[in-house]
Amino acid sequence: MKLLIDNADIEKIKKVYEFYPADGVTTNPTILAKSGRQPFDVLKEIREFIGEDADIHAQAIARSAEGMVEDAHKIVAELGKNTYVKIPAIEEGFKAMKLLAKEGKIKFTATAVYTPMQAFLSAKAGASYAAPYVNRIDNMGYNGIEITQRIHDIFLNNDLETEVLAASFKNSQQLLELAEYGVGAATAAPDVIFSLVKNDAITSAVETFIKDFEKLVGEGKTMKDC
Ligand code: E4P
Repeated sequence: MKLLIDNADIEKIKKVYEFYPADGVTTNPTILAKSGRQPFDVLKEIREFIGEDADIHAQAIARSAEGMVEDAHKIVAELGKNTYVKIPAIEEGFKAMKLLAKEGKIKFTATAVYTPMQAFLSAKAGASYAAPYVNRIDNMGYNGIEITQRIHDIFLNNDLETEVLAASFKNSQQLLELAEYGVGAATAAPDVIFSLVKNDAITSAVETFIKDFEKLVGEGKTMKDC
């Protein structure tokens, strides 16, 4: 399962990259708006930092299919290879997906996926990823993990090459359940990623190892000093 960062704050992205194995960055218009900066200034800064081999997902904004296709061209022209254009899985979006698939040059991610049917239609329309919003689905009274797993199964059972890009997480357990299930990718906010291994028992175990070692060879000493 690829692990992506759902954020546009370059300092937070740098911190995740310093400590964790990340495969790229996803953004949405709300995330970009939070930066208060021009979208391509932020997105190009992210691309420069993560490098051309990492994935970046940026959303088309236009309401019409033709406008979404124009947005897609602009996004890929600015951000280069390994860019996925997020297209909402709505009626105009499916039309845009079909147009992009026909062109065959731009990879796209179906976004705002709340139902398996949206994911199925997106996959048939040529999406590389479909992004179910796990936590938002939970908040609607359904089970976001179960729906995401169903989407994964639908892709497998229909020989569709589309992968799940699970999005909208509130805790590490949700991510783990999907990793166990083997979905293609998940994207989470930096704070969720930082909490993946935050656990007093783990911290205390590592601290005890260090203290015991220091009792043996002296305070502040490590293997290199021995
Ligand atoms: C990803 O495609 C979505 O834009 C994002 O993960 C939504 O997350 P949220 O529900 O935390 O806003």
